[in-house]
Amino acid sequence: MEELESSELGTLEYWENRYKNEIKNFQDHGDTGEIWFGEDIADRIVRWFIKNVEPEASIVDIGCGNGLILIELANAGYKNLTGLDYSEEAINLANNIAKKRNLSVKYHVSDVLNGIRDNYKIIHDKGTYDAISLSEGASRTKQTYLQNVHKCLNDSGKFIITSCNWTENELIEQFSNYFVLESTVQTPQFKFGGKIGNVVSICIFKKIPT
Ligand SMILES: C[S@@+](CC[C@H](N)C(=O)[O-])C[C@H]1O[C@@H](n2cnc3c(N)ncnc32)[C@H](O)[C@@H]1O
Repeated sequence: MEELESSELGTLEYWENRYKNEIKNFQDHGDTGEIWFGEDIADRIVRWFIKNVEPEASIVDIGCGNGLILIELANAGYKNLTGLDYSEEAINLANNIAKKRNLSVKYHVSDVLNGIRDNYKIIHDKGTYDAISLSEGASRTKQTYLQNVHKCLNDSGKFIITSCNWTENELIEQFSNYFVLESTVQTPQFKFGGKIGNVVSICIFKKIPT
């Protein structure tokens, strides 16, 4: 499969600068920052959790950014929530938001490419695999990402991923050594040149046991 051209979105420097600005906006105006892929997609993800995941399940959000999905899950009654991001500024922002809302979420600075501490029932990724796909040497970093996610997912766990860079079929193909598709969450469709496509894919994968 062809790789995407690398871009600044695949670098730590880009995210550090971006979240540095977002922290300032949060402190100055209480603005929590961008909801990647929009509110409608975030609502669909949260509805999937409510329907499929019990409140005590251990949940990790990889590349959590401002942590807004975890905030929504905490509001929905989820109790065992962890957010990881390799940007210290992102974790700073996420911690500030959770504290202000009086919600309990654990946050750690952690590069998913260096391995993931602990095991989880549910792994959530919205836009992080996309960002990693835009890094230099993405074919290698994507494999490291997949190995690390596979290792920290419980055998009976689920991996829910939202991507705008890859279609459902591309994700199935790229993940085929590690995960199989279990289901998808419907997202708005568009029609172009007689073909129907999705702008954003939300897929739920099961682990292929080692
Ligand atoms: C498109 S943003 C999405 C943020 C968040 N998931 C959301 O939906 O708002 C991608 C995120 O992935 C994080 N990220 C990229 N590469 C990472 C890595 N190797 N380890 C941990 N986080 C990473 C970035 O810092 C950024 O917060």
